[in-house]
Amino acid sequence: INTHVYDSSEAASLYVAREIADLIKERQKTSDNVVLGLATGSTPTKVYDYLVKFHKEESLSFKNVITFNLDEYFPMQPDSIHSYVRFMNEHLFDHIDILKENIHIPDGSCTKENVKEFCDAYEAKIEKNGGIDIQILGIGRTGHIGFNEPGSSLSSKTRVVRLDRVTLLDAASDFFGLENVPAKAITMGVGTIMAAKRIILMAWGEGKSLIIKHAVEGEIKESIPATFLQHHVNCDFILDEAAASNLT
Ligand code: F6R
Repeated sequence: INTHVYDSSEAASLYVAREIADLIKERQKTSDNVVLGLATGSTPTKVYDYLVKFHKEESLSFKNVITFNLDEYFPMQPDSIHSYVRFMNEHLFDHIDILKENIHIPDGSCTKENVKEFCDAYEAKIEKNGGIDIQILGIGRTGHIGFNEPGSSLSSKTRVVRLDRVTLLDAASDFFGLENVPAKAITMGVGTIMAAKRIILMAWGEGKSLIIKHAVEGEIKESIPATFLQHHVNCDFILDEAAASNLT
């Protein structure tokens, strides 16, 4: 893991957005696609703001971009205000020229009966598109990446998982109460994430500083899934000063 510390999450997000935009433009020269792995939550929103800005002000096109989101609550209707579909539309997709058919988000409206089939097809679709070029990640206080909570194995693939109590508590205010937070989610696995050619994990604020220390400097173990990223050959942690404050 390479760590890069920025004065502010704003500056850090600009760096990440630039890297993504540069790859998109590079591939456009040879008419090739870019496959992006995307995250929701508060961490990547400024990156999405910058990508929208580049689209509007620098006419960056997303016509050659294919996206796969990490996760979605389960069950979750796509038109719910709590869905990650709505989140992505609001923060990114509604404001750029990406083709609708190139957007992939785990389908929270699957049934118990067909969700396994959906998860296997999601994996196959990522592979069919040549794998993920850049995977964007946030990190949960449990050390989850995607919704791979403690106990997730290095080889795990897209599947239904039960959310950790800490994660449910962190989501409670968004859902107007703990009792409204779905107990489960569909998530890409650790193995799915590790297969990405490049991984950029972002973290802002003091609240993330302890888990960042564990992830970067701690022993690699299933109880902190983000530690598996230490095995990846092209993984950067982009941090603000507060998130980096516990690193030695
Ligand atoms: C979201 C995701 C999660 C979040 C993590 C941090 O798609 O996969 O792992 O990245 O829970 O959330 P925030 O950014 O809200 O602190």
